[in-house]
Amino acid sequence: MSITKSFRLAIIPGDGIGEEVVEQGLRVLSHLATRSNGKFSFETDFFPWGCEYYLKTGKMMDENGVENLKDYDAIYFGAVGFPGVPDHISLWGLRLAICQGLDQWANIRPIEFLPGIPRRLNHPDVDVLNWVLIRENSEGEYSGIGGRNFSGRGDGKEIAVQSALFTEYGCERIIRFAFELARTRNRKRVTSVTKSNAQQYGMVLWDEVFKKVSKEYPDVETNQWLVDAMAAQFILHPEELEVVVASNLFADILSDLGSALAGSLGIAASANLNPEGKMPSMFESVHGSAPDIAGKGIANPIGAIGSAALMLEHLGLGEEARLINQAIAETTRQGILTQDIGGTANTHEITDAIITHLDIDRPSDLGHE
Ligand code: NAI
Ligand code: MG
Repeated sequence: MSITKSFRLAIIPGDGIGEEVVEQGLRVLSHLATRSNGKFSFETDFFPWGCEYYLKTGKMMDENGVENLKDYDAIYFGAVGFPGVPDHISLWGLRLAICQGLDQWANIRPIEFLPGIPRRLNHPDVDVLNWVLIRENSEGEYSGIGGRNFSGRGDGKEIAVQSALFTEYGCERIIRFAFELARTRNRKRVTSVTKSNAQQYGMVLWDEVFKKVSKEYPDVETNQWLVDAMAAQFILHPEELEVVVASNLFADILSDLGSALAGSLGIAASANLNPEGKMPSMFESVHGSAPDIAGKGIANPIGAIGSAALMLEHLGLGEEARLINQAIAETTRQGILTQDIGGTANTHEITDAIITHLDIDRPSDLGHE
């Protein structure tokens, strides 16, 4: 049978466990493609960018790397950062260079409570909780505006300025995105998170835009919270959360809190979207390169495999994405777990189990007739 759709994927495993978990996500994708009976396939190009590349070349990625990525349907990313290269060099040189260079302004981070995982959160509804965090992914505290100066004044007298950038354009597009997403969910509710009592310029602008946009969505319920109180809300009343939209830094912090509450950083998936579809979007687990466990083969691949599911959904393969998520849930339900969530299985074994469940859940081919 001829291939009806071939997707070009740029693969950037990056550093540490990034490489280990991306390999597992690719196993799942390749399995699905084989099972599709020729309906779709993936053409993968690997890019060796990351800290090792930096130590050899002085650059985190090729000079024209971002430009070259524009040729792909999607980017599948591991993680970046390793001891020996300062974290601000590795993050700005690769992940942020791609997100900002390809205007992937919406970062979607679902918080899912999978079955069979020991809960960190003691809550009566813990088994049915799930909410999604929308992170503004292009500006805010990560705009990179600032500088250092006056080292010539001598020891202890240097200064640093780090500015946050909030534009009406940037606030409006991410807030509107959150409202649109809320309309697709059972409970139509958007919670906006700022710290506009202290951040009296940028975050007050965000609040004003939120109020303005909310008027266009009378069917969507709204809340506005300060970030410190929201951190407590994540633990005390997570049942109130549905779609939570926040600035680049705040949503980054809250997403680690959310995934830890759900069991581990290792299970959280994310999508860096260019919603207009003019540039490729990038899919990556929420966690970093975890140098403390790198090379041991024990990293939890669920975040990376879940990110592959988000990628399939984005590419129009919603049924396959659903199957992956179902296979992940079936695997954890059976207690096949990595160490970070209380089990003994290794990275490869979890993926084996997920692949097995893909077949159990759908024994015939996945072709769309
Ligand atoms: P991290 O997310 O790499 O690790 C935090 C803790 O969670 C560690 O104890 C780690 O072992 C554990 N963990 C993370 N992912 C796991 C998984 N899949 N399975 C089991 N355990 C897991 O964050 P950390 O330690 O703050 O940063 C390490 C490096 O990663 C730094 O260089 C940092 O800059 C970079 N980083 C990169 C990110 C990215 O590429 N998107 C995001 C966050 C950090
Ligand atoms: Mg983070």
